[in-house]
Amino acid sequence: MGTADSDIVFQSYGRCCNNEQFFVDFYDRFMGSSDEVRALFVDTDMKQQRHLLRNGIMQLVMHARGMPDSKLRALGQSHSRNGYNIRPEWYRLWLDALLDTLRQHDGEFSAEVESAWRRAILPGIELIRDAY
Ligand code: HEM
Repeated sequence: MGTADSDIVFQSYGRCCNNEQFFVDFYDRFMGSSDEVRALFVDTDMKQQRHLLRNGIMQLVMHARGMPDSKLRALGQSHSRNGYNIRPEWYRLWLDALLDTLRQHDGEFSAEVESAWRRAILPGIELIRDAY
């Protein structure tokens, strides 16, 4: 992953992340992708969850820019079988929902921007998923 990818991703996220609707649309898609995923959030305060996810995605982006692993390791623990019990296969739905929402909201989205996102955040997603 080159610095160029993380710059593209940082700018793409900057065009999206100040709009609350981005996170509303993300969770509508993500929960719409599976009844099991929807069930995980029945008791969740979604306004707060949107705020937490805004930071969580930023952690993935910062990881791509060389930040230490500690924040992602903590997410790995909270999402593991000892925590929310988030099954590894659900991370694909999460990434698909994120990319579809970026495509909807980022006016400069392109195949290049999509590839940059995939390359930049996959290692961080795998770190969280593999803590299962
Ligand atoms: C909570 C980020 C993937 C379900 C959280 C929190 C963050 C976060 C920042 C709040 C902090 C915490 O409780 O540890 C992420 C990131 C993901 C990801 C960056 C992608 C790598 C997933 C997936 C699922 C999921 C795939 C479900 C299929 C949940 C649930 C909570 C949560 C159920 C707790 C909600 C509550 O407090 O009621 N996530 N998450 N997450 N996440 Fe994730």
